[in-house]
Amino acid sequence: EKVILAYSGGLDTSITIPWLKEHYDIDVIAVCINVGQDDNMEEVYDKAIQSGAIKAYIEDACEEFVTDTIFKAVKAEAKYENKYLLGTSLARPIIAKKLVDIAHLEKAKYICHGCTGKGNDQVRFEASIAALDPNLKVIAPWRIWDIESREDALEYASKHNIKVTATKEKIYSVDANLWHTSTEGGDLEYLENEHSTSVYKVCKSPLDADNKEEYIEIYFDKGVPKKINDEELSPVDLVKTLNELGAKHGIGIIDIVENRLVGMKSRGIYETPGGTILYEAHNILESATLDKDTLHYKQIISYKYGELIYNGLWYSKLRESIDAFIETTQDNVTGTVRIMLYKGIIKPAGIFTENALYDHGISSFGSSDLYDQKDAEGFINLYTLPLKIKALKSLNISKD
Ligand code: ARG
Ligand code: SIN
Repeated sequence: EKVILAYSGGLDTSITIPWLKEHYDIDVIAVCINVGQDDNMEEVYDKAIQSGAIKAYIEDACEEFVTDTIFKAVKAEAKYENKYLLGTSLARPIIAKKLVDIAHLEKAKYICHGCTGKGNDQVRFEASIAALDPNLKVIAPWRIWDIESREDALEYASKHNIKVTATKEKIYSVDANLWHTSTEGGDLEYLENEHSTSVYKVCKSPLDADNKEEYIEIYFDKGVPKKINDEELSPVDLVKTLNELGAKHGIGIIDIVENRLVGMKSRGIYETPGGTILYEAHNILESATLDKDTLHYKQIISYKYGELIYNGLWYSKLRESIDAFIETTQDNVTGTVRIMLYKGIIKPAGIFTENALYDHGISSFGSSDLYDQKDAEGFINLYTLPLKIKALKSLNISKD
């Protein structure tokens, strides 16, 4: 028998290899999916083999990550609880798909992941795997074994001859990818504590950011970002470029308390520099190009979409259906947005589009053929009718 192990190269997933062999008498195939985390993949490969895997795969999924999930989220401007740009949530379905593909290739019946039994990630992986191949069985060691602390893990590692490379104490639980870096745990678990800016992995603090403002232009084609400052970039390069720009200007850092799917509240710091710029620029372009009713309806749908992604239901009919809706809303969302970046702030600095529904003649103060100010009187009479009726009734009641 074979098990596909979602492998990161860290201590926890490394000790999982001997643990699986010991408890299931099974061959372990380690799979590390590159979604833009800044790790040395050759080292990860070697570590997997040294730790006892019979085979290791390093799979690059950056492009799928950006085009299949990130850009869909951008079009929807999807957030969880109006704040979180879903960086971890969007990567999980991509990773799960690769794990399932390799399980098929290797004719493995098991997939093992290193998520704890208290978080969202276990649900996201297992919901994705269930949707893609319900016959695959999942092994989740953290819900089974009694390794609970870093000390336990180190002890297990030394017993099984696993080399520990980083001895530096791991304080936070960090998840990094092309879209974001999340930091949870440690002193952040106490709500009274202001977070230290030393937790930032990619962003400068707005306080230490460049003293000079920077203007950039982003071109969107039907809601999909294509160019920065007139230069056409691949999806991955575009996100990387915006990450650098955002990081340098201290953009996209949030510190929030969120509601996990498994019932508890948790606190985290998220750095999403490029993502925050993209959402904002997209929002600016859409404000000029999408009609009021569709825009308002889209905001409701987008909230639902964010919740669904957070809750691990990427591979669901509802997600596909919402995507179809979002897609049609983007027909007109084409044009260039100019923005200014400065110390954590994104300032709109010009919208250039032929698709604007904004009409200067109508919106400015003069009169025009399409809008006659006299019509407003009749409109307001009918519009306020229910208010008048209610007010008259209550006057009558108070007279009695
Ligand atoms: N709370 C965030 C989420 O649920 C981040 C999770 C980070 N995951 C991790 N394995 N460190 O999407
Ligand atoms: C974990 O518990 O494995 C990480 C946090 C989360 O999934 O929410």
